[in-house]
Parts: sequence; structure tokens; C-alpha cells
Amino acid sequence: MSNFVKIKNKINRFNKNLSIDGDKSLSIRWALLASQSFKKSKASNLLLSDDVISTLNCLKKLGIKIKISKNFCEIIGLGLNGFKYRDNLILDAGNSGTLGRLILGLLVHSKKKVKLKGDKSLSKRDFLRVIKPLEKFEARFNSNNGKLPIKIQGTEYPKPIKYFEKKGSAQCKSAVMFAALNTYGETVIKAKKSRDHSELLFKYLRLPIKIMKKDNFDIIKIIGKHNIPALNYNIPSDISSAAFFIVLTTLTKNSSLKIKNVNINPSRVGVLNILKLMGIKISKLNIKNYKGEKIADLVVKSTNKIKPINCPIKFNSSAIDEFLLIFLVAARANGVSYFKKISELNQKESPRLRWGSKILNKIGIKNEVTSNSIKIYGNPRLRINKKIVIKNYLKDHRVFMTSVVAALSFGGEWQIFDKDSINTSFPSFLKKIDYLGAKIE
Ligand code: S3P
Repeated sequence: MSNFVKIKNKINRFNKNLSIDGDKSLSIRWALLASQSFKKSKASNLLLSDDVISTLNCLKKLGIKIKISKNFCEIIGLGLNGFKYRDNLILDAGNSGTLGRLILGLLVHSKKKVKLKGDKSLSKRDFLRVIKPLEKFEARFNSNNGKLPIKIQGTEYPKPIKYFEKKGSAQCKSAVMFAALNTYGETVIKAKKSRDHSELLFKYLRLPIKIMKKDNFDIIKIIGKHNIPALNYNIPSDISSAAFFIVLTTLTKNSSLKIKNVNINPSRVGVLNILKLMGIKISKLNIKNYKGEKIADLVVKSTNKIKPINCPIKFNSSAIDEFLLIFLVAARANGVSYFKKISELNQKESPRLRWGSKILNKIGIKNEVTSNSIKIYGNPRLRINKKIVIKNYLKDHRVFMTSVVAALSFGGEWQIFDKDSINTSFPSFLKKIDYLGAKIE
């Protein structure tokens, strides 16, 4: 079967209800934390995407028992530092930065050597950002300048550490938090604000964690070696996946969409805040609290007049995975938009800031990109009448799905390669597009 899609027509107006796959960050964290409990944990609506399947496969190799049925996943953990495996085990994190970085945190206490590898995209990404703090626990690492494959050998008595996370990376923060679980004494993290799912799960599990807010930083204190109870969880829908449909609705005339049960954790809703400033109508219904996470149904309506934005940097971390889509909205805005201090985008599955600029060039939108900013000259009358090919983007799932949204919103004749990249985070993406009535070959 061909691994590309062809799109020749814009999507017709739609007015529907939609459900979205489970949250990736929560699915991976659920599995990793469940593996540290002695009890049986159950999850429903777990995202069964490649990143989560890589997580389950790594845990199985580490001796964890896992059962998956259609609606449930069950994990019987081996307790803290309970992994059972042979020396020189090889773990494959596939495409997943979250898995790769967080699992290293769980291995700081494991004396046997483990080699961690990943796919082509993950092997280009920076792991020094987690190696450096995890070395302070006295785990030993061997790598080529922090690139996969990496060898880790843990230590019998990991030392609690003090760590300053300055990038606003939840993966770095969480890797250290997971390592702290396995450590006698108190680890103190000063972290620039980023998604806080790990903190909320720790609190829900009643682990000894204290969090103090200080300006744009959190001071997180964790005392380790506390037994982890069973973690039963119903994973809410992923706002990062919902965002593709929010933007498609925004850009499609006379359309509206209701997306149910979306995780609107404040540390993830940068995309909603930014779109609101750009004049887009999104309302939140049935707001609930679920085990510390905030959940709601989202209702989006298409917007004729999109305002340009000088994007406040306070939203950067909470919108980090949605910028490619936000750039599409800026392409339709009535004026020049400016996004700054977003160099972290180039640290993702592909250099996404550069890819954002490339997509805008392909659709004929003037933009000025640097290593950490982009200026986008919007055109409210944007129409595309040419052929556009998207390929060689390191199979970055978000580049693929953003390109599909662009094709269906702006027109033109598109060929977008590597459609299997959707399996990384949103396996049902094309089925949902089909359900909204789009014609895709
Ligand atoms: C994630 C954190 C973010 C995000 C990634 C998932 C997580 O990465 O881009 O898709 O689950 O912790 P960084 O922590 O590197 O910003």
C-alpha cells in the first residue's frame, strides 16, 4: 500500500461531534508509573499509538506483566527498582522522546546495564539534557555526545539531587522526578513551567511531593522510596490531537465541531489561549476535574476574521506541540504575526520551526524565520492553486497532520508522504478526517 495521501479538494463545511484518541503524555506516564507499583493498575482509553506501544514493549522487556484488551490495559508492576532483566538489555524507544527520557529516570537505580536506542528521528535528538541531571544521581552514561544509542548503568544508592530545569521541558523535569522516586532523601527541582501531568499523578497517588510556585518557576520537592499504590485511570482525549480538528474547523467556512472529553490541563491549553487572542471562538462545556486533570467538551466554530498576534512568550511551553497549526491560522490572519523564543521547536521529532517556515513557503505565505522566531505575513484571501509535495520530514507525525489540515483548508493539489507517521500519536486521524467528509486518496 502506498505510504502517501493525495488531497485535491478542500473539505466541505461540517457540523459534527467528534471523539479523539487518548492523551499521549498521560498514557506513557500511566504505564511507567504503574510499572513501579506492586499492585495491578488498569487504564481505559489508553492511547494505543506507536509511542505508547514502544513504552509497553520496553516495560515488558524489563520484566513487567502487561495485558491489553480492546478497552483496557492492565499492568502488574514490580515495585520501585523492581525491574527484572538480563545485563546489557537493549530497549527501543522508537520515535518517543517522552519514553526515552522518562525511562532513563526509572533506570538510575538499576545496576544492570541497559542500552537505549531509537529511530532515525529520535537518534538526532538531544539526550544530554537528561543525562546531565541523571548523572548527578550517580547513574553512569555512555553515549556519543548525548545522542542515542545511550548506555546507562544505575547505582545501588542514587543520591537525591538539586536540579534547575531552565528550558521549560516537561520531559527533563519528569525524568528527574521519576529518578527521585527511587532515591532515599529529598530531591529538589526548580523548573520553568511546563506540562504538569507527572506532578498531578504523584499528588493523586499521595506520594510525598510538595510544589511551590515562584514566578514562572515551580519548586518541586520529592521524597523517594515511597510505595506506589495501584493507578487506575481513564485517559482523557489529547488536546494536541484535538488541535488538528480545532484548526481545521476554524479555517473551514460555516463549520462547527464538538470534541468530547478533552484534557484541558492549564499547562496544555496554550493553543486555546493563543487562538482566542486571534479571535477564534472556542467554548468549554461540562468542565470537570478528573484525578487532578481538568477535562471539558470543546465547541469550535469557523472564523472569518482572524487577528494577527504578537504571541506572548508565556504561552510557548503550553502550546509547544501546536505551533505548526498555529502558524497555519496566522497564515490566514489579517496582518503580521510574530512568535518568538521558540527555538525548542527545532528540538522536536523534526526541526519544526524550520518545517513550519517550509510549509508556509510552499503555500505562498511570506515569512521570516530565525533559529528562535518566526514572523508570518498573513493573507485572509489565501487560496492555493498549485501542486505541493511534502516529504523527507523525518516522519514527524505533526508535520504530516498539519499538512493535511493545510490542504483541506486552503486547497491546491497535495501529495503528502509518510502517512504511517500518524501512528506515532493519533492512529485514527485519517478515519476522523474521513468522518468529517473530506476526500482523500
Ligand atoms: C512531552 C513534553 C514536551 C512535548 C512532548 C511531550 C511530555 O516535550 O513536546 O510532545 O509528555 O512530557 P519537552 O518536554 O521536550 O518540551
